[in-house]
Amino acid sequence: MRVTDGVVSEGVASRIRTALDRVIDPEIRKPITELDMVGGIEVAHDGVAVVEVKLTIVGCPAADTIERDVRDATLAVAGVSSVDVRVSVMTRDERAALTSKLRGGKAKRAMPFGPDSLTRVYAVTSGKGGVGKSTVTANLAVALAARGLAVGIVDADVYGFSIPGLLGLVDTAGASVKPTQVDDMILPPVAYGVKVISIGMFVDDTSTAVAWRGPMLHRTIQQFLTDVYFGDLDVLLLDLPPGTGDVAISVGQLLPNAEVLVVTTPQAAAADVAERSGLVARQTGQKLLGVVENMAGLVQPDGSVLELFGSGGGAETARRLSKGQDARVELLASVPLSLGLRQGGDSGVPVVVGAPADPAAVAIESLASRLAVRERGLAGRKLGLSVG
Ligand SMILES: Nc1ncnc2c1ncn2[C@@H]1O[C@H](COP(=O)(O)OP(=O)(O)OP(=O)(O)O)[C@@H](O)[C@H]1O
Ligand SMILES: [Mg+2]
Repeated sequence: MRVTDGVVSEGVASRIRTALDRVIDPEIRKPITELDMVGGIEVAHDGVAVVEVKLTIVGCPAADTIERDVRDATLAVAGVSSVDVRVSVMTRDERAALTSKLRGGKAKRAMPFGPDSLTRVYAVTSGKGGVGKSTVTANLAVALAARGLAVGIVDADVYGFSIPGLLGLVDTAGASVKPTQVDDMILPPVAYGVKVISIGMFVDDTSTAVAWRGPMLHRTIQQFLTDVYFGDLDVLLLDLPPGTGDVAISVGQLLPNAEVLVVTTPQAAAADVAERSGLVARQTGQKLLGVVENMAGLVQPDGSVLELFGSGGGAETARRLSKGQDARVELLASVPLSLGLRQGGDSGVPVVVGAPADPAAVAIESLASRLAVRERGLAGRKLGLSVG
């Protein structure tokens, strides 16, 4: 039977429809009413409601959540005594209409994060490996999302992806969760309010080595930026592989508006390498947003500070990168060595959530608050103020 709106009780049916505006699709992160996922709503005299819900795809992982939320929202409407939620799947045409609507009616495969977009794009880079780029990126993203910003991460470290693990998007065997695909649109899994995409979500076994050359890496990053539905983001963070290789250059080409955060350790010798990664970013036309020093002094139980990696490397890198520039490149944060930060990464519960009082969490929070208030794209840009 096809259900049509309010056959018996128009008023209650329309109240139900309004109530369903508050049911959010957990993957697309928009109200299901806006996504045309609600079909007919019928309410009989005795308050028995029948609500049709159309899922995007068969076996939609969010089906149970949506069904439960629809049931709860409907039962909360005055005049409803019980509800029968009838779940079906969109037709091919309905799905095509939805993906086109999500793309804002634009031609498909448009890259939404270019210079005209309002999204602030931050690329996190470093000269050396293992300095904590991914750990800082994951925690920073979660901290920004907790401030109410719409945040996405592209794990652009195709060989050494680690973001899914850091954000708990893995099963007990360590395999990354798989994104839902609606036709050719990929819905990024969400962790701690952050939409995440990583090559790790497309390889079947965690030990798989991804050995691609430049063009393939470029296409993958490009596909992440075009085919993944991030929606309107305030901030997109890119976690880059270490060094100054193909991916950094691809990101420079694909996202010339990206602003670069250079992560370095406090070691004086690290400043040389960090400086190089910053200079490559500048050569590809990107702006340097600032330096984040990681693995700085650890405060020990007796109050003394253990500077395992020395000190001053962050400030030195910022100083060198500022040379000859209009806008000074600042040291934006110094994140101490922290057991909590490391453990949070291993367990998939970022320290900013799991142990917010940890000194590393506090430092990342203060970095987040500096970035959260920034207007897009002002850093390093001449403001064009005229005198007189
Ligand atoms: N401040 C810190 N205190 C303690 N451990 C840290 C800190 N920052 C990062 N780590 C640990 O150091 C290791 C490397 O961190 P991470 O993977 O984030 O670095 P990366 O720069 O992304 O590495 P890669 O270059 O391989 O991508 C991880 O085990 C992480 O838990
Ligand atoms: Mg990394």
